[in-house]
Amino acid sequence: MHGFNSSYYRDSYVNRRIEIRMKKSARKTPCEYLNFLKDSREELQELVDCLGVNVTSFFRDKKPFDVMKKLVFPVIAEYAAKNGGNPVKIWSAACATGEEPYSIAISAVESVGLEIKSGLKVQITATDIDEKALLAAAKGEYTFKNMGGMDEKLIKRYFKHIGDKYVVNEKIKNMVAFSKLDIISGIQQDHFDLISCRNMLIYINMGLQKELFEKFHSALNPDGFLIIGKTEVLPFGMHRNFKTIDAGERIYQKIGQEVLWGGLIIKKSAYSWLTMTRGSEKCSARY
Ligand SMILES: C[S@@+](CC[C@H](N)C(=O)[O-])C[C@H]1O[C@@H](n2cnc3c(N)ncnc32)[C@H](O)[C@@H]1O
Repeated sequence: MHGFNSSYYRDSYVNRRIEIRMKKSARKTPCEYLNFLKDSREELQELVDCLGVNVTSFFRDKKPFDVMKKLVFPVIAEYAAKNGGNPVKIWSAACATGEEPYSIAISAVESVGLEIKSGLKVQITATDIDEKALLAAAKGEYTFKNMGGMDEKLIKRYFKHIGDKYVVNEKIKNMVAFSKLDIISGIQQDHFDLISCRNMLIYINMGLQKELFEKFHSALNPDGFLIIGKTEVLPFGMHRNFKTIDAGERIYQKIGQEVLWGGLIIKKSAYSWLTMTRGSEKCSARY
């Protein structure tokens, strides 16, 4: 398929999506549909979008955001403050129509007032393969139905109610930059403090899932955090690289690099900090 590798998705999943598009485009057989697909760029994009399934919601599953507020953002804020106020970098991979990165932005502000209190800048890179979803996300306009389940106070604080729309306020919008990225063939190259990739991994095969976790690992700062969907699991062998912060909410932390040298344990940690331990003696320094 042009510019898109469908071979990594589970077969049963791809077959179901093709059947849906066949019905929608009134093509009776796979052959008929394939011929149609060859001639129609629009249908090709429809199929790619359909493979995406961008079901999402604000504060989806709620609890992971509570854990992030309590256990993730305060740690990130502390590291960033030690590091002289470098921006906090977050990647929301497979962000669909924006509810997830905006929820992360709101949680960051609510948690430790990352931007407001500490003066730290929070930059959220939000990516998805689905162009239509990204356009909607960048607009930041939602309906009453989309706001379902969100705390009234948060709606008042972070949205403008204009006509029948709820529009994300400028402060939250400015924290998030949307761009198209197929995470199967590419990766955001940066040093992230937090990567969120939720409810996308379930569609792809185990082999590729492992590759993606390796990519996430290398895109994270030492001690950076990773959050995945509730029904997704860290592949076998990856527990070596990630410490579990909350097993139920699927929140993990990259294990900083440790080396043994002349009886010392040297741990390379986030933001250029080295911790050296020998027995009960411990010392930290910048490098
Ligand atoms: C079910 S939504 C999850 C949205 C959000 N993360 C959440 O948990 O609510 C899955 C998203 O993955 C995106 N997606 C699927 N394959 C992708 C790929 N190869 N690269 C980037 N995004 C992809 C879809 O377009 C869709 O928006």
